[in-house]
Amino acid sequence: MARHFDGNKLVIASHNKGKVREIGELLEPFGVETISAGDLDLPEPVEDGLTFIANAEIKALAAAKAAGLPALADDSGLEVHALGGEPGIYSARWAGPTKDFSVAMAAVNEKLGNVEDRGANFTCALTLAWPDGHMESFEGKVFGSLTWPMRGEKGFGYDPVFVPTGFDVTFAEMEPAEKHAMSHRAEAFKQLIDACFKPA
Ligand code: IMP
Repeated sequence: MARHFDGNKLVIASHNKGKVREIGELLEPFGVETISAGDLDLPEPVEDGLTFIANAEIKALAAAKAAGLPALADDSGLEVHALGGEPGIYSARWAGPTKDFSVAMAAVNEKLGNVEDRGANFTCALTLAWPDGHMESFEGKVFGSLTWPMRGEKGFGYDPVFVPTGFDVTFAEMEPAEKHAMSHRAEAFKQLIDACFKPA
């Protein structure tokens, strides 16, 4: 049995505005008040885990302990099948110090070259941690293919080059609600909500 969240305030353990916004939107129906690690000025821990879940646990635990409140962290990224899963857990780093994702998307496209297999997936690991060190972790994925050039202005990160299976539009061309209904983050959230937020 997973531990249930029964407070009313939750720290979003991220300094990424796009993620904080999406997580806030996904939690809205549950009446949970959220505050971000950025707003609390919490330090960013070193993400030296080798899996999405390991990194989500590092971030959630650090924020829960520093804030003295339950904290939710998301570690996510794009896995390109013909590149052996790269950029994977290094998805944010491929954007460089200026966090310019057009640079990261161009790097992916260049590395792929003329390879026929354009298959990719996003993965999202979510960890809910409590100040006493207890953690619950979940993982969701969404599969699709990469397109070039970039298309769309919505979303964030690699959204302009990712076309989910069964669609013609990129995540960045979709309305946020449409992306939220099918994304890797939505999938991980479903698991988190069922285990930790819904009344038993
Ligand atoms: P981190 O989890 O903060 O280390 O960074 C994950 C990176 O993966 C983000 O900065 C994005 O570039 C990328 N990413 C994760 N989720 C999404 C998404 O829903 N759309 C587009 N890019 C994403």
